[in-house]
Amino acid sequence: MTAARAAADILVHAPGVHPRVGIVLGSGLGSVADRVEDAVSIPYGELPGFPVPAVEGHAGRLVVGRLGGQAVACMQGRVHAYEGGDFAPLRNAIRALKLAGCNTLLLTCAAGSLRPEVGPGRLMAVADHINLLGTNPLVGPNDDTFGPRFPSLSDAWDPGLRVRLHAAAARTGIALAEGVYAAWLGPCFETPAEVRMLKTLGADAVGMSMVPECIVARHCGLRVAGCAVITNLGVGIGEGTVDHAHTLSTAAAAASDLERLLIDFLDGLTVEDGNQP
Ligand code: HPA
Repeated sequence: MTAARAAADILVHAPGVHPRVGIVLGSGLGSVADRVEDAVSIPYGELPGFPVPAVEGHAGRLVVGRLGGQAVACMQGRVHAYEGGDFAPLRNAIRALKLAGCNTLLLTCAAGSLRPEVGPGRLMAVADHINLLGTNPLVGPNDDTFGPRFPSLSDAWDPGLRVRLHAAAARTGIALAEGVYAAWLGPCFETPAEVRMLKTLGADAVGMSMVPECIVARHCGLRVAGCAVITNLGVGIGEGTVDHAHTLSTAAAAASDLERLLIDFLDGLTVEDGNQP
């Protein structure tokens, strides 16, 4: 099984680390991996079945080491549905993290805000999601060794871990918003009418990632927490426009807040925290 081979390779590359928390870093947020101590960096190309990202801002390596006192495996780079391939590399990477020993997955991304009061540079904890990709990473034959054919997504984003994110934000003086994340296929950003639709549907932020990883993780029993870095207001809300270069630079500017938040969140985290150990 490819995921099992990748998991074994992770443990061979980083002997003795035993990662417990997987982290996926979004566009412009790769610098969080620079804070990993005793870091071993493994190019995705050396891990069977891992994705080879083609998008600027996504490095394509797994950084294994310690962050906030936890053993972590940090994915610096991810695949997106808009890249057009199948979801196999994404499924494989998340399942490899599980088989390597992770019990928790921490997802991050750059996102557009649908709430004018939550502007660029703010962080938003993900409370729930709306999958508008028109597809699902579990479509196809089910691998029963990882999880059920019809997995539940009630509490997809672990409520206990979210409480912990807010506690970390209070301790570090970061104004952490909370909201529903809508997954948009892309690669085009939304039209103003689509932004109004997303608001009507109950979304607070929109982006092109995180949801497939959350679904695969929940299927195989990982608990999931998520934090979106707001890089812009949705088009039609406020004055600004949105483009990828602006997304990258705004995310990079907010990355130091994200680093502080995640390090505090990880400090002392145990499998008992959160609702789904
Ligand atoms: N829409 C979709 N994805 C995004 C956005 C946005 O406004 N900003 C950053 N990623």
